[in-house]
Amino acid sequence: MTVPSGPPSAQSVPEHVAVIMDGNGRWARSRGMPRAAGHRAGVKSARAMVEACGERGIRVLTLFAFSSENWSRPRSEVSALMKLMLEALGREVNELARNGVQLRFVGARQRLSADIQERMISAERQTSDNDKLILVIALGYGGRWDLVQAAQGLAREVQNGILDPEAIDEEAMSRYLSLSTLPDPDLLIRTGGESRISNFLLWNLAYSELYFTDCLWPDFDAAGLDEALAFFGGRDRRFGRVADKVGSA
Ligand code: IPE
Ligand code: IPE
Ligand code: MG
Repeated sequence: MTVPSGPPSAQSVPEHVAVIMDGNGRWARSRGMPRAAGHRAGVKSARAMVEACGERGIRVLTLFAFSSENWSRPRSEVSALMKLMLEALGREVNELARNGVQLRFVGARQRLSADIQERMISAERQTSDNDKLILVIALGYGGRWDLVQAAQGLAREVQNGILDPEAIDEEAMSRYLSLSTLPDPDLLIRTGGESRISNFLLWNLAYSELYFTDCLWPDFDAAGLDEALAFFGGRDRRFGRVADKVGSA
């Protein structure tokens, strides 16, 4: 984890922003459109968000696109979301690659269709050397799933005699979580008016600043991001310590 220690201006840009992109369905309903139309508009917002984050020097952007629990939505909505994901991957990856974006996917992949899984792997391969912005897409992701698969990974190491159970510490646990090598999110943005985590990054959000806005995801734009960044810039991040001592010995 990076503890900010630079001048105030350097602290105002988070290194890692995570986003719960919520409100597509309500956005569509308020226009008399089907929910899928809201998701389509949501993809456009996500694209604009990637660009805006790159322009602002944010290094990691994690987008919650589909949760473990979203599998319980009506089959027609799940299919529409998967179709959009497949199309977006087909359409956007080359340009993301050209713009120096590294793509990573986190979540339980086995339940996704074979063609989506293939595009995910190929997008990760194509962009693995890029470092302008790391774009993490959480797809079929749940914070509890992540903790469970990390526990399984650690248990396997113990079973194979590689790891002493007493040596399991926070660092070892982090290594097995989906975001392993990435810094924790500094800022979490949730659009759509709800003030909850909805099983997103349960471990990694421990000290993130939480920003909730009523704005529905398809309406969220660069100006909305700047409002969230201004909120972030005004926070005093103490990490459990005493005010103004963060960064000092
Ligand atoms: C977020 O929008 C997108 C996904 C969860 C896939 P919703 O579909 O949850 O939209 P609302 O919350 O019903 O408005
Ligand atoms: C969270 O939104 C998941 C994503 C944005 C992908 P939901 O709409 O699924 O969350 P709840 O049901 O309001 O908690
Ligand atoms: Mg929702």
